[in-house]
Amino acid sequence: MGSTGDQPIVMAGPVPFVDVVVDNAGGAAVANKADPGGVLPQEEEYESIVSSLPSNPKLQLLCYQGKWLLESWVPGIIAIQRPGGGFAPRRGDVVLASLPKCGTTWLKALAFATMARRAHPPPPPAAGDDDERRQRHHPLLRLNPHDCVPSMEKLFAAGLGSKIMDALPSPRLMATHVHHSLLPASITDNPHCKIIYICRDPKDMIVSLWHFVRRRLPEIPFLELFESACEGRCLSSPIWDHILGYWNASKTRPETVLFLRYEELLHDPADSVRKLARFVGQPFSPEEEEAGVVEDIVRLCSFERMKNLEVNRAAGLSPVLQQNAYTNGSFFRKGGTGDWANHMTPEMAERLDAIVEEKLRGSGLSFRS
Ligand code: A3P
Repeated sequence: MGSTGDQPIVMAGPVPFVDVVVDNAGGAAVANKADPGGVLPQEEEYESIVSSLPSNPKLQLLCYQGKWLLESWVPGIIAIQRPGGGFAPRRGDVVLASLPKCGTTWLKALAFATMARRAHPPPPPAAGDDDERRQRHHPLLRLNPHDCVPSMEKLFAAGLGSKIMDALPSPRLMATHVHHSLLPASITDNPHCKIIYICRDPKDMIVSLWHFVRRRLPEIPFLELFESACEGRCLSSPIWDHILGYWNASKTRPETVLFLRYEELLHDPADSVRKLARFVGQPFSPEEEEAGVVEDIVRLCSFERMKNLEVNRAAGLSPVLQQNAYTNGSFFRKGGTGDWANHMTPEMAERLDAIVEEKLRGSGLSFRS
């Protein structure tokens, strides 16, 4: 339920989570940080959990349950994992999962545009006043994709999790960077909850991550991040565990886990959008195909289009979550494949490829071209 003026309206999801306005009278509410919804671990409890964990203060990481995670996410992850406390799944929930820098922003945009297309038709190429007006009103033209689809651990860590998640109309769309093994069974074993995973060549992921981390740590050498990735100790590492967890789940439960690759999206985005739509139970009708809706979604979410939008060009921050060094624009850099060759020697690339290949051996998954 949301409200426009005095008239409450029932909204079908997904809706941009930053548009969900919380009132403390029990309706859809925007977060009240003083009342986090009772799901965050108390300070002493949190201290006792994390005080003995290995840490990397420079990268602000903690090794929680064997995975290197951004320390600021950990309270949110604990809240989500808490049985009956944090995350209450609903029929129709769709979780977008990824390692950081593997195309999360793009997947958020594509999934949102696809699932919300009845309420918000993707604008066709601008042709007249009506189209212009429609263009301005599409959420993805006024908001960064991260303000449309919440990142669960950030939302829960900010104490906003259950309030905003409960207020969102179904079907809900949300995202996580957490390893499959760290998600609660209420998501992973739930036949009514779907997961869409996107992975990327780890070499390009690490280059992208380095550029991102440099916004906060301008002096960090590429080699330092590269070494920590090879040792399985950089952000969201071990990265092979992350990829394998979702890969294996997609093989065991293909009806609830869809495995996508960034490179495939680049190669044929329309094919991936159709796959995504079928997977979430909203295939494109012959009429929509005829009208070019798939192409409109692809165009709306294309790198050039998104990067050049005013909302993403600005140094803007999420109105709800804030991102500090990470402005809306920082999620759009080059948007292609193979940038690793500008940062790694052939020997470095071979070393990382060999590590990943060894870890993925026998899985049927490979990043070797
Ligand atoms: P590069 O740094 O290699 O350019 P994430 O969204 O998981 O943080 O990933 C960010 C990466 O996805 C960045 O890669 C970014 O440029 C790229 N990206 C963002 N939006 C994109 C889009 N619409 N199409 C293709 N790539 C996109």
